[in-house]
Amino acid sequence: MKRQASSDQGMWRRQITFLLASSGSAIGLGNIWKFPYIAGENGGGAFILMYLLCITLVGIPIYMAETVVGHETRRNPVTAMSILAKQAGQSQRWRWVGGVACLTGLIVLSYFTVVAGWGLHYLVNAFEGAFQNEGSYAVRGIFIDLLSDPVAMLRYQSLFLMTVMLVVGLGVRAGLGVAGHVMVPLMLLMLGLLIAYSHSLGDMSAAIDFMFSFDTDALNWNSFLVALGHAFFSLSIGMGAMMAYGAYMPKRTSIPSMVFAVASIDLLFAMFAGLAIFPIVFASGLAPGEGPGLMFVSLPVAFGNMLYGSFMGALFFALVVVAALSSAVALLEPAVAWLNERRGIPRPIGVLLLGVLVWLLSLMSMFSFNALQHVEVVSGLNIFEFLDGLSANVLLPGVGFALAVFVGWRMDVQKFSHRRFFSLWIWLLRYVTTPAVLVIFVTALIQHVA
Ligand code: TRP
Repeated sequence: MKRQASSDQGMWRRQITFLLASSGSAIGLGNIWKFPYIAGENGGGAFILMYLLCITLVGIPIYMAETVVGHETRRNPVTAMSILAKQAGQSQRWRWVGGVACLTGLIVLSYFTVVAGWGLHYLVNAFEGAFQNEGSYAVRGIFIDLLSDPVAMLRYQSLFLMTVMLVVGLGVRAGLGVAGHVMVPLMLLMLGLLIAYSHSLGDMSAAIDFMFSFDTDALNWNSFLVALGHAFFSLSIGMGAMMAYGAYMPKRTSIPSMVFAVASIDLLFAMFAGLAIFPIVFASGLAPGEGPGLMFVSLPVAFGNMLYGSFMGALFFALVVVAALSSAVALLEPAVAWLNERRGIPRPIGVLLLGVLVWLLSLMSMFSFNALQHVEVVSGLNIFEFLDGLSANVLLPGVGFALAVFVGWRMDVQKFSHRRFFSLWIWLLRYVTTPAVLVIFVTALIQHVA
C-alpha cells in the first residue's frame, strides 16, 4: 500500500509561510552578534566573499538536500530518512542521521535558551535604565552578577523556554507558521529603527571600514573554517529543522528559489545587523570584541551613554530575544514531530516531555557558570562550552556530511532530473560539498582532540 503523502503535522498553505518560518529560523544570534564580528576580525570584505562562497557551494546544496528529504516524504527527519533509504535499497541505519539531527537540535536548544534568557534579562534591565551612564566596569559587574546567580538565569531562561513550547505546542499552522508571519516583519522593523538610530548618532563610516575593508592579510586557513562552520550555523542546517520545515512546504514549490531567498535574507540581515551595532560601538570608543560577554557588556555601555539609550537598548535586546525565539522553535520542532509520528505521542505531550528534558539539560549549562564552574568535561571546557563545541564542531558537520553523501550518492534522485538546477545541485553535492564538509569535519575533530 502506498503511504499517505501527507505529514501528520499538517501543512502550510502558502509558500510565503515556508519562506518566513525558515527565515525566522535562520535569523538568530548568529546574525546579530557573531557574523558582524567574525567578518570584521577575519578580513572584512574578503571574508564576506569567502562566506558567500561557502554558502553557495556548501550551504545551499545541503539546505536543498535537507528540504528535499522532508518535502519528498512529508515526514519527520527520522521517518523521512528511513523511507528514502528503503526506496533506494539502502540500510535502515540511515535513519540515525535524522535521529542525531533531532537530538543535536535539542542540545543546541538547551544552551540557546540560556543565552536567550540573558537577552531577556538585559531587555528588562535596559528598559529600567540600568545601563544609563554606566561604564564598562559597572556593566561587566551586572553580567558577572547574572552569571553567578542561577536563580535569576533560571527565571528568564524558563520564561523563554515556555514561550518556545507554547509556539511549538500550537502546531505547524497556528504556531510555527503564524510565528514566522509575525516575527520576521517585526525583526525587519526593529532592525530598520536601530540602523536609523545608529546612522544618526553613531560612527557609520568606521563601521563600514571595519566590516567591508578588503583585508586579505587577515585571512588564513582558520578563517575558511570559521566561514564554513558559520554557513552551517547561520542557515540552520544539520539539525533536521529544514527537513521538518520541508515536510510542511506546499506541494508545488520551487525549492531552489525558496532556499536561495532564505540564504539571501539571512546574509543581508547579518550585514545590516553589523551596520546597526558597530557605529554605536565605535562612536563610544569601545573595541569591537568577541563572544557573548561583549554583546552583554560593550553594547549596553554604548547604549547607556547615548541619547534615548535606554529605549534603544531595550529595542536591541528585544530584537535579540525575538530572533532567538524564531530560531528556537525550529530547534524543538523536529523532535516533537518525531515523537508524534513514530511514537504516537500527541503534540502537546511531546512538547511538554521534550521541554522538561531541555530544561533539565539547560540546568547544567546554567550551573556551569557558578556551582559547577570547576567541572571540566574535556580539557578546559565547562559544560556550556562543551555542549556548544560538541554540537557546532562535531554533530552539525557530521550530520551535514552524512546527508550530503546520502542525497548525493545513495538516494534515488533521478526522479528530480527534470527540475531546474538539478544537475548543478547534484554535481555540487557530490564533488564540492561532500569533500568540503569532510575537510572541516576532520579539521574540527583534530582541533577538538588536540
Ligand atoms: N541559525 C540560527 C542563528 O543564526 C541558529 C541555528 C543553528 C538554528 N541551527 C539551527 C536555528 C537550527 C534553528 C534550527 O542564530
